[in-house]
Amino acid sequence: MSFCFNFDVSATTNTDDVQRNASMTNKIDGVAKSATESGSPAEAVKEAKEHLPPSDPQRLLDDAIYETLTIGTFPPLHFLNETVFEKTVYEREDTENILSRTAEQRSDLISGVYEGGLKVWECTYDLLEVIDREGQTFGGKAVLDLGCGAGLLGILSLKRRAREVHFQDYNSTVLEQLTVSNVILNCQDDDSDDDDDEDGKGTLDKEEFKTKTKQNRKDLLLPRCRFFSGDWRTFLVLASSQDPPLKYDIIMTSETIYNTAYYPALHDTFHKLLASHGHIYVATKSHYFGVGGGLHLFETFVAQRGVFTVNHLWDSEVGLQRHVVVLRFKKESL
Ligand SMILES: C[S@@+](CC[C@H](N)C(=O)[O-])C[C@H]1O[C@@H](n2cnc3c(N)ncnc32)[C@H](O)[C@@H]1O
Repeated sequence: MSFCFNFDVSATTNTDDVQRNASMTNKIDGVAKSATESGSPAEAVKEAKEHLPPSDPQRLLDDAIYETLTIGTFPPLHFLNETVFEKTVYEREDTENILSRTAEQRSDLISGVYEGGLKVWECTYDLLEVIDREGQTFGGKAVLDLGCGAGLLGILSLKRRAREVHFQDYNSTVLEQLTVSNVILNCQDDDSDDDDDEDGKGTLDKEEFKTKTKQNRKDLLLPRCRFFSGDWRTFLVLASSQDPPLKYDIIMTSETIYNTAYYPALHDTFHKLLASHGHIYVATKSHYFGVGGGLHLFETFVAQRGVFTVNHLWDSEVGLQRHVVVLRFKKESL
């Protein structure tokens, strides 16, 4: 048995070069339904772990077909084409066995098993547009892309000179096959706002300079990234056990508040990992049909906890409503 979320795709704006609408009607199969109806994951949560980038990152991009997203003043963001990715799932390493399961069940979400990170969800585009309008600069910041999926939010901050960027996704397969690939894809550009490698520009010819900067960018950008899989509860333990414990100036998270059962772990993660002066961008729909969560329930939960203020940065005016909000510590909770 299957049923659908009905995502409104009409309100998306100036990112026409991306074919993102095709799979926006998301099917959740019977497994997900029974799991989410009870409000808890179907299978045991995943223990958090860190993933090191592969020793031969280029291999991940052999024959890669990718798309390019251009928003406002941002450098272009590249990401693997979802359709091609889906068609090649059987050739990919997948220790969690989620690729074949999602393909067979034609499911975008299997609660507690696969949390949807293999495609770019539309609120990611909303958040990118809001960040562009807000003029958010990431220079020198420590950033967390929480529930990153394809990782576009973290990649943007990386290209905009964040000091370090951590990518977290529930599924290790998502991180290893998609997020890391997308990061590497973007490290090859010579369009980052990164001028640390300008040395020698005058002494090399154009082609030599291109080769040198490409290599340098990978050497410069990839070491600024860390990748973590697992559920938020155990990710928080792992992050807090680092020396020094991880703290972030900016946390960005898109389409991660669909399941109310995850709110306590998500809120604790925000609370413990955000630096006192920091802020959290949350991009979300008002309501996730069939799963039950959404912004109104999340705001109620946050208000009850009394730790953060919530301010709306953007609310869509048509269709199923989408929002971008920002959370900051209340003065009295610091
Ligand atoms: C619907 S996907 C959104 C992916 C991406 N942010 C986007 O907008 O395209 C939800 C993401 O939230 C994360 N997530 C959801 N529940 C989680 C949990 N309980 N623990 C850890 N991560 C979770 C997963 O990593 C998943 O990629």
